[in-house]
Amino acid sequence: MVQFNLPQNSKILKGKYFSDKTSSSNIKRVHIYRWSPESNQNPSEDTFEVDLNTCGNKVLDILNKIKNEIDSSLTYRRSCAHGICGSCAMNVDGVNTLSCMKSHKDIHGDIRIYPLPHLKVVKDLVADLSTLYKQYESIEPWLKVKEFKSNESEIKQSKENRGKLDGLYECIMCACCSTACPSYWWSGEKFLGPAVLLQAYRWISDSRDEAKKERLKMVADKLKLYRCHTIMNCTSSCPKGLNPAKAIGSIKKMLATS
Ligand code: SF4
Ligand code: SF4
Ligand code: FES
Repeated sequence: MVQFNLPQNSKILKGKYFSDKTSSSNIKRVHIYRWSPESNQNPSEDTFEVDLNTCGNKVLDILNKIKNEIDSSLTYRRSCAHGICGSCAMNVDGVNTLSCMKSHKDIHGDIRIYPLPHLKVVKDLVADLSTLYKQYESIEPWLKVKEFKSNESEIKQSKENRGKLDGLYECIMCACCSTACPSYWWSGEKFLGPAVLLQAYRWISDSRDEAKKERLKMVADKLKLYRCHTIMNCTSSCPKGLNPAKAIGSIKKMLATS
């Protein structure tokens, strides 16, 4: 059997233990990945005892409580707290999700919180998404119209054509899907991944856009697109209930029939 050995400096060590000081009878133990580029030390897993009687229902509420009351150095991204910005994506109990949408009441026993998998870590729960953003930029995610009719203020779209964007426009680029995709883990520099391909399909499907052919040509590549082997992890991990695997399948079908 093949054995993989991690380099010594990537092994996760046991970290600090922060005991509850409130004597509450409703305590949750939360284990959190910690790593700082400044410390020159291995990553560790700190454990926090959190009083749930004085905490909101979401995993993000737990993180905010820890940061505000126990350890202000805990680092994570968040902004809207309503599942809109996508910035609080992380791995909670082994599943990629938005911490502001995930209820800790659904998790029995201790909670484990890690950054999104298979990305470089910037600090603690903050994963490095710069490659994904460059890939997003590469698909030119904006409306392309060859010639603007100056006397028209809007580019109109029928209800039916607008409906074709349902299930696509809702994507918030949280990266939960791409970082759950085995093909993206191994070929993340070349394969565009489900998040970016769903976005590409969003623009390919937009009746107002006039660059459909160029867009299809741009993604028709054995690495950029065909690294997807329809494993479907992406679809099962999307916290917005979208179906990137179906979008990728639709692009492949368009290419096969065009
Ligand atoms: S498809 Fe879903 S999981 Fe993927 S980036 Fe968009 S919202 Fe996030
Ligand atoms: S369906 Fe394609 S993009 Fe989605 S997880 Fe599988 S290989 Fe990745
Ligand atoms: S904080 Fe914006 S999606 Fe969670």
